[in-house]
Amino acid sequence: MNMQIDSQSVAQLPKSQLNLNRFVKISDREDRGDIPRVAWRPLTKNYNLQTWKGIHLDKSPIEIALYPMLLYEIKPKTIIELGALKGGSAIWLADHLDLFGIKGHVYSVDIDISQLQDSARTDSRVKFLEGDCKNISAVLPPEMVATLPHPWLVIEDAHVNLVGVIEYFHCNGLQTGDYLIVEDTNKIMWEEWADWDDKEFLARMERKLHELRTWLETHQNEYLVDAYYQDMYGYNGSKNWNSILKKI
Ligand SMILES: C[S@@+](CC[C@H](N)C(=O)[O-])C[C@H]1O[C@@H](n2cnc3c(N)ncnc32)[C@H](O)[C@@H]1O
Repeated sequence: MNMQIDSQSVAQLPKSQLNLNRFVKISDREDRGDIPRVAWRPLTKNYNLQTWKGIHLDKSPIEIALYPMLLYEIKPKTIIELGALKGGSAIWLADHLDLFGIKGHVYSVDIDISQLQDSARTDSRVKFLEGDCKNISAVLPPEMVATLPHPWLVIEDAHVNLVGVIEYFHCNGLQTGDYLIVEDTNKIMWEEWADWDDKEFLARMERKLHELRTWLETHQNEYLVDAYYQDMYGYNGSKNWNSILKKI
């Protein structure tokens, strides 16, 4: 860093530079990331130890830094999370809405909500819904999602039926200004985890980026990568490659 630049200029520099080309079509994005492959094992191997208010939280340190900035900026009135697990991420999201004075609601879907930790299950700020992302319209019916106030933040973190799920929200509610984040599209992170026992899961995760890109190519002018957040820690510097998306 140039030590001649004063701290105020430093704070303004990345934003002003990135704002020139902040929202980028998928065709102008590469499927690569600046964080080296070997970094992903130490960054993610202790997920089982990571908690938010004592509840397991399945996010990398980079997402833990990025999401609050995005939430503060977009001020979502509705957050839809697919994949609740123990409930830690849903409570973490609800806490950030409170912290920032955002009057929003969190809906979190999982095929098995018996996994929720009690302190998450009993938190009235989050509506946990049991259902299968392979049949998303049964758990979040079109007439129900039509009532949810915008802006939305939709987070796909169940890793099932990706194209079906994003197509569903595309056809049922996503509007200009809404955000969609598809988690765990970082290809080299999954290469690093090639020794994972569940080979079917691994193969699904390795396909995610390609499936997302293929879908985005047919919606080039509707969903753009937000390079400000996407590239804050280096090009695609998170476990989510080309998947912090704004509906235009
Ligand atoms: C990676 S975890 C979610 C992590 C959580 N969002 C967090 O950050 O702490 C994925 C979750 O997706 C759920 N899941 C798996 N298959 C599903 C399906 N077909 N429909 C809905 N949820 C599913 C699993 O039960 C699991 O809890």
